[in-house]
Amino acid sequence: NDDVEFPHAEKKTMADHLRKYESLLTLTPQRMRMIVHAIEDTLDNGLQKDGQVVVIPTFVFGWPTGEEKGDFLALDLGGTNLRVCLVTLQGHGKFEVTQTKYRLTEEQKQDEGQKLLDFCAECLDSFIRDTLGRTEADGILPLGFTFSYPCSQDRIDHGVLIRWTKGFGAPNIEGRDVAAMFKESLKRFNVPAELTALINDTTGTLIASNYVDPHTKIAVIFGTGCNAAYMETAGSIPKINSIGLPKEQGMAINCEWGAFDSFDHQHLPRTKYDIIIDESSNKPGEQSFEKMIAGLYLGEIFRLILCELIDAGDLFLGQNTYKLEKAYAFDTAFLSLMESDITDELLTVIGVFTHFFGVETTLEERQFFKKLAVLIGTRAARLSACGIAAIVSKKGYLEEGCAVGADGSLYNKYPNFANRVHTALTDIFGEKGKKIVTHHAEDGSGVGSAIIAAMTKSRKDAQFF
Ligand code: GLC
Repeated sequence: NDDVEFPHAEKKTMADHLRKYESLLTLTPQRMRMIVHAIEDTLDNGLQKDGQVVVIPTFVFGWPTGEEKGDFLALDLGGTNLRVCLVTLQGHGKFEVTQTKYRLTEEQKQDEGQKLLDFCAECLDSFIRDTLGRTEADGILPLGFTFSYPCSQDRIDHGVLIRWTKGFGAPNIEGRDVAAMFKESLKRFNVPAELTALINDTTGTLIASNYVDPHTKIAVIFGTGCNAAYMETAGSIPKINSIGLPKEQGMAINCEWGAFDSFDHQHLPRTKYDIIIDESSNKPGEQSFEKMIAGLYLGEIFRLILCELIDAGDLFLGQNTYKLEKAYAFDTAFLSLMESDITDELLTVIGVFTHFFGVETTLEERQFFKKLAVLIGTRAARLSACGIAAIVSKKGYLEEGCAVGADGSLYNKYPNFANRVHTALTDIFGEKGKKIVTHHAEDGSGVGSAIIAAMTKSRKDAQFF
């Protein structure tokens, strides 16, 4: 018997490891409720004149009517791609979209700020001329620019980048007006487009989803980053008192909740893996909430746990694991692949580890990996449910219930993500939580930005504000 011969060599089984990670990564309903309160307080603080946190009034005034019409360009600089669209709004909540995507390289994300925007302008120009076959003679099209990073705004066609998030680091753009810089790029490349609105993806998603379903009151992006928007009344936004809006006037709020609990880290149950991710990121201390939830990071949390087990000699002993030891080598898409694997032998999991990382796995290990993915994915869903619950509770949406438009690869592609958010909402609110329902949102950065551009145009035409 091994135990007798080697009294000190308590070799841990995969089941022992799993129990440890379960206790580290599981969120009880009670813990979630504490987080909900803290997020609610943070949102309140961010709307105050002297608030310490970044919560952003967007200068998107109220809900769309559904009757917005016309042709609009939309440009979307998200976390991964650059997308350019022509959106034709047809009224009655209907629209058509023509689009092209361009891949952003890691170098471009770190390139000079103005150069990054120049690249956006060039792509837009080639889309207008080559894809749409338009020239200046066909007129200048209005453009909504979805720039999904925290920007403080004084008006809709203005936005000072507060800080980069999601791994971007292009110098000489933080602290500057991105809209003005982009207008320069448009001029330099003679692009037949006029920047009408600078928006966040969450705001676009909120407006686009409400355009087709007026029950939608909240929008959440679960993508490379994670964030939400909702509609507030001007009277509850002390920060913008000075612009003299009627108290009941709606204004969309970009919550930037990814930054919740940043810097002083008082509320979130961060594990040592979360701390490693944070400290080795290009923005240590920042985006604490997002780093526990978003698609950019979940694969990395998984990889760090694997590395811990490899270092302890409890995994892949005698195999060459250098491919797994590279930061960010384990894409979040692998977690969703593993979670979708329902074969007895876990054949997809075998594939992931042999093809991408060159290591052999036992069935017991594969079962462990799948369960670990469930733990990480579930924690992300439950944390983001806390954010939704904070807005619901702040706005008193629980009695009536409301729809939440959700978008992003995690929501759209990660198995069970939506169900887990819904379960978490009932854990937080009890049965009433069932009245808060997420659904796949309309394309916020395309259609949403077009609607906002249209709303802005008609507001200007009517000399409103
Ligand atoms: C990051 C950005 C935020 C954006 C979110 C989703 O959190 O800071 O502006 O909405 O990612 O893309």
